[in-house]
Amino acid sequence: MHQPIDRIKSYLGDHPWKNTIQYFDVVDSTNTLAKELAAQGAPAGTILIADRQSAGRGRLGRSFLSPGGMGIYMSVILRPNCMPSEIMHLTCATAVASCDALESALHFRPQIKWTNDLILENQKLGGILTELSINPKSFRVDSAIVGIGINCCQSAKDFDPSIRTMACSAQMITGTPVDRDYLAAELVKSLYAMDAVLLNDKDTLLNRYRQDCFTLGKEISIVRGEDIRHAIAADVDSNGALVVRYEDGTTETVNSGEVSIRGLYGYV
Ligand code: BTN
Repeated sequence: MHQPIDRIKSYLGDHPWKNTIQYFDVVDSTNTLAKELAAQGAPAGTILIADRQSAGRGRLGRSFLSPGGMGIYMSVILRPNCMPSEIMHLTCATAVASCDALESALHFRPQIKWTNDLILENQKLGGILTELSINPKSFRVDSAIVGIGINCCQSAKDFDPSIRTMACSAQMITGTPVDRDYLAAELVKSLYAMDAVLLNDKDTLLNRYRQDCFTLGKEISIVRGEDIRHAIAADVDSNGALVVRYEDGTTETVNSGEVSIRGLYGYV
């Protein structure tokens, strides 16, 4: 009963995804492994959790530091029966589900820096990486991999000096030891609940995202290579894209590129 997988399962009662969890001491990336398993036919609800990732990945090709004993690194295979255009809000929905799990397990609710960063008190607590595989014949979604990384047990000194002022952990927020297995079980529950409404209650999911989204109403800069434009984050649209309003009153919908918020992560 002392293995993490047994402890996680003990918190899941008769949950439908209880017996689909696989636990690893180390993998390169749970998202990479989930993609491989999905290509081999693994069913929806296959859940991979690792104590450590040797090559954890974030958005925009960045790495996600994933030391052992410190965090939650989880990926879930979903198989939504839809076109890619119907689940453009998947990252937003996953971010809200992650906030739900943190609130339920640890009694604090982070905010979301559009589109995929979980933040608290201006510091990054975790992130979401979702990846779609498309069937080349039907162009429908074959699998959607939902990856979540949460810093749980770090003290400030555990973070590399280069990110120390920008990162935080759940334990730094609660001030008490964090039970990663309990939080992982709450994540399984909230992701299952999200999957159940992903395609049929998009408006509710996105309204909840807007409530959690730290970026809305803030002054932001949109960085595309050498091009930097300043704007206000006005809304999140029905696909989870960010609607920004420039100083001249024109608006644009931002799907990619990097958005920085004034005062956050050291941007001034
Ligand atoms: C980001 O910060 O841009 C997203 C980070 C996502 C990290 C998680 S950890 C589990 C899963 N496996 C990965 O390699 N990445 C995601």
